[in-house]
Amino acid sequence: MHQTVHVELGERSYDVEIGPDLLAQSGTMIAPLLHRPKVAVLTDENVAGLHLNALRDGLAKAEIEMTSLALPAGEATKSWPHFERAVEWLLSEKVERRDVVIALGGGVIGDLAGFAAAVLRRGVRFVQIPTSLLAQVDSSVGGKTGINAPQGKNLIGAFHQPSLVLADTSVLGTMTQRDFLSGYGEVVKYGLLGDAEFFEWLEVNGPNVSDGDMAARVRAVTRSVQMKADIVARDETEQGDRALLNLGHTFCHALEAATGYSDRLLHGEGVAIGCALAFELSSRLGLCSQEDPSRVRAHLRAMGMKTDLADIPGDLPDAEALVDLMAQDKKVIDGQLRFILARGIGQAFVTSDVPRDAVLSVLEDALATI
Ligand code: GLY
Repeated sequence: MHQTVHVELGERSYDVEIGPDLLAQSGTMIAPLLHRPKVAVLTDENVAGLHLNALRDGLAKAEIEMTSLALPAGEATKSWPHFERAVEWLLSEKVERRDVVIALGGGVIGDLAGFAAAVLRRGVRFVQIPTSLLAQVDSSVGGKTGINAPQGKNLIGAFHQPSLVLADTSVLGTMTQRDFLSGYGEVVKYGLLGDAEFFEWLEVNGPNVSDGDMAARVRAVTRSVQMKADIVARDETEQGDRALLNLGHTFCHALEAATGYSDRLLHGEGVAIGCALAFELSSRLGLCSQEDPSRVRAHLRAMGMKTDLADIPGDLPDAEALVDLMAQDKKVIDGQLRFILARGIGQAFVTSDVPRDAVLSVLEDALATI
């Protein structure tokens, strides 16, 4: 059941290992990267309680010693004070230039630890051990690292590729169903953006993925990571094609800002709703058939996911205010909103050529159903 996806980036290439019980094999997998049998692990307090001992045991099998720092769980940790604490801890642990830092956790820890590794002693290598579905299929692969600024999310950071990613699909069993389905929003995104057959497979097998069928989970994570690896290999620093990974994200960022980045709307939930809105917009612009947005929404609904604006608890701003929030997205170039639209399921493309009125009317109609 174990799969390997290679991310081809010349001298920065690396493998993503995907399968059950990889924590138990972590020592054997990480040992070839080490110059001395010692690693420093950054994690969060929740993940530490669930998985740190399994990692310690896995490393011990290859006689690798481990020290660890557990930061508070949650998005607020992706900030200067916790970043400073992490870097100072790594220095106090005497992590050297040839050592390896391990990020054990979800997207917050992966992004923060990766950024700490990027700047520590002008750059040390790091290994991602993502413990959430979202981190396994998205944030642990591709080298985007960083923290949030008071001015916005992910505004401080660096591209720093990991040397290895261990996506242990067994650890997904400890996620809440809501967090799991939020990560599934990013899985669906891959089918919608570039692989209609994968989307068809998800329509049939999504419930098995959600119910814990390990073979289905490995297949869903592997296909997602393959797609991300191909896109990152073509466009590591997002000069072009990498923006395809932002399908659904322009709408999502506005909705996340409107809900105060709170647990009213998790990131992957916003991505799922955003994908449905992006297909609705594509259909209204005559780019894809009217059936496509209905099919996207039907799958999200069948999975028990948030699908429409009406599924977000509490009030939302009006359509004009939501479009204004979109315009504050950091991916706006020269004031032009960039959208990922689709000519059909699996056929996404990037465009700045979207009339504001079309976006407004999609949002007005979506808000009218609340
Ligand atoms: N999460 C989008 C990217 O890695 O480019």
